[in-house]
Amino acid sequence: MSFLSQASGLFTYYFNAVNEHSLHTPFLYELYTKVVKSDHLNGDFSEIKSIYKKLLKDKSKVHITELGAGSSVNSSTSRSVRSIAQHSLTSLKFSALYYRLIKYFNIRHIIELGTSLGINTLYLAKYEATKIYTFEGCQNTINIAKTNFEKAEATNIKIIEGNINQTFPSFLNGQLKPDMVYIDANHHYTPTLRYFDLILKNRHDNTIVIIDDIHWSEEMSKAWKEICDHPEVSLSIDLNRCGILFFKHDLTKQHFYLMF
Ligand SMILES: C[S@@+](CC[C@H](N)C(=O)[O-])C[C@H]1O[C@@H](n2cnc3c(N)ncnc32)[C@H](O)[C@@H]1O
Repeated sequence: MSFLSQASGLFTYYFNAVNEHSLHTPFLYELYTKVVKSDHLNGDFSEIKSIYKKLLKDKSKVHITELGAGSSVNSSTSRSVRSIAQHSLTSLKFSALYYRLIKYFNIRHIIELGTSLGINTLYLAKYEATKIYTFEGCQNTINIAKTNFEKAEATNIKIIEGNINQTFPSFLNGQLKPDMVYIDANHHYTPTLRYFDLILKNRHDNTIVIIDDIHWSEEMSKAWKEICDHPEVSLSIDLNRCGILFFKHDLTKQHFYLMF
């Protein structure tokens, strides 16, 4: 993790972040006022929160198979469940935002790269019309995530086990064109761009891509900038912690920092 990169990302974000008064594109104005800033589309997340609270108290140790950039806080291969829950998961504020996006756009097929303990996955799966394909390579983590899915009785989740570098390309060969992809696995420059290229080949006009930790390191900031500049990306939104991409052909190419 690069402190400088995070500090610079934060500074640029707060310097440039705007609210609805600066949004003149109807699509973006509606998205901001009805989804990003409003919680009226939120679901009842109480059960997921209670599973999450139990994980935060769980001191048992698990052996981690590290296939990505690892944790910025704990680089040991033996970590407590509590530490993973504290430091490696999407914040619940953002997970709830992803749920609202799913509901607003009536999203059906979602890919999540990086399951970890499955808490964010449960938020994505809360909208029952969806089918989630979540990818994870650490077997012990997968076992905990599966238990959490059972506890929440979430039946619309399929875990694809193994190294995403192999499982993701072969999965996409099966012609599924995802409506949403959440990239939150290997926080390095090259794999992030490789996953993005694979998505480009399999996207449709309304596919939404969310990338977590876009300013986690210099590598991630560089990858995010190049992705935003890609000609197929028509709208890119920087929320500091994550970035959201749209490819809709009827939008004029724009980049925004939105207050959240
Ligand atoms: C930041 S955590 C994911 C957090 C989860 N999306 C959430 O919000 O709760 C990243 C996860 O990606 C997994 N991962 C990283 N690189 C991977 C790879 N190349 N193949 C499979 N899994 C990988 C790690 O094992 C870890 O569990």
